[in-house]
Amino acid sequence: MTGVTLENLVKKYGSVQAVKGVSLEIEDGSFVVLLGPSGCGKTTTLRCIAGLEVPDSGDIKIGDVRVNDMQPKDRDIAMVFQNYALYPHMTVYNNIAFPLKMRKVPNNEVKLRVQKVAELLNIAELLPRKPGQLSGGQQQRVALARAIVRQPKVFLMDEPLSNLDARLRLYTRAELKRLKQELKITTIFVTHDQAEAMSMADKIAVMNAGELVQYAEPYTIYSKPASTFVASFIGSPPMNLMKATMSSLGDGLSLDTGSFKYNVPAEDVKVIKDAGVTEVTLGIRPEDLTLTTKQTPDAIFDAEVYVVEPLGANTVVDLKLKDGLYKAVASGTFRADVGSKVWVTFAPEHIHVFNTASGAAII
Ligand SMILES: Nc1ncnc2c1ncn2[C@@H]1O[C@H](COP(=O)(O)OP(=O)(O)OP(=O)(O)O)[C@@H](O)[C@H]1O
Ligand SMILES: [Mg+2]
Repeated sequence: MTGVTLENLVKKYGSVQAVKGVSLEIEDGSFVVLLGPSGCGKTTTLRCIAGLEVPDSGDIKIGDVRVNDMQPKDRDIAMVFQNYALYPHMTVYNNIAFPLKMRKVPNNEVKLRVQKVAELLNIAELLPRKPGQLSGGQQQRVALARAIVRQPKVFLMDEPLSNLDARLRLYTRAELKRLKQELKITTIFVTHDQAEAMSMADKIAVMNAGELVQYAEPYTIYSKPASTFVASFIGSPPMNLMKATMSSLGDGLSLDTGSFKYNVPAEDVKVIKDAGVTEVTLGIRPEDLTLTTKQTPDAIFDAEVYVVEPLGANTVVDLKLKDGLYKAVASGTFRADVGSKVWVTFAPEHIHVFNTASGAAII
């Protein structure tokens, strides 16, 4: 087992800077998810690690070895793509056995290893079939089996679940997670699905426009997003962000969004003042807002109900305020009439404060 290190990786395609100096340390045996919007450089980063693209500058290390000049086949990496190409004329068994036969592994060992990986992925009974006789999800698992069977040093997976329907995607996601615990092979998994990233990753590397913008454990990314970009990319529905004006209040500080005033807790005042910014953006997650249909003494502001979306386990409520629409997540049984008034509270520790100009988190 081996970790992967990127040091200042840069990759350009003509005038397009696809990857702009990414440094990333991926621990031995860990499962890291590269997450970011379309075009942010995820696939390019993977392809550089696999050796399918030559970086313009920067170093790629697998374990302690710099692999920049090493052929893809010598890097001991297995890659699973979004479009898993199985060999249509071969049985599932032969598809999975192929990488082993290529490496001249003795036949009896091939048999054992194919059987084992097929059982692990729950496809043992499909071994005699051809890919054309399988569902999309089964084909996907065969593709995974073919990558796993060889026990490479590193797995690279580029949106391997994106061709599956929603249900199968959830199922395969859980299977992959179980597999990860069993195999403990260093894995870099690309997705633009934040829920997939949150649920599977040991660590998430969030990318935006070719740059790494935050690298941390999933809960840290969720609870302490480094910027408004990360804050609005993680979480569903995304964090409410509202611009606020600052005014001093004696020793304290008050932030006014136009819809409500937020008096900054004493311990945070200095941090915000020290940041030396003039414009701040407040952030609060929809699930951190508490709604009541009757006025309560601790209500921080009231709002008009714009839309109510009951989703079963919870209810998403859109609130109309002077400065725009906010989203709140209430319990599954919450109901309110459109146009009616609701009262909103939140705990001060759930407020995030960002520098409006740079987007960087202050608190
Ligand atoms: N072969 C290429 N030639 C020119 N530009 C490219 C090439 N491959 C990628 N790019 C550009 O590099 C940038 C990063 O592309 P990349 O495929 O790495 O994004 P991505 O994060 O994987 O996106 P997606 O989520 O859509 O797959 C994009 O602007 C893309 O248009
Ligand atoms: Mg891609």
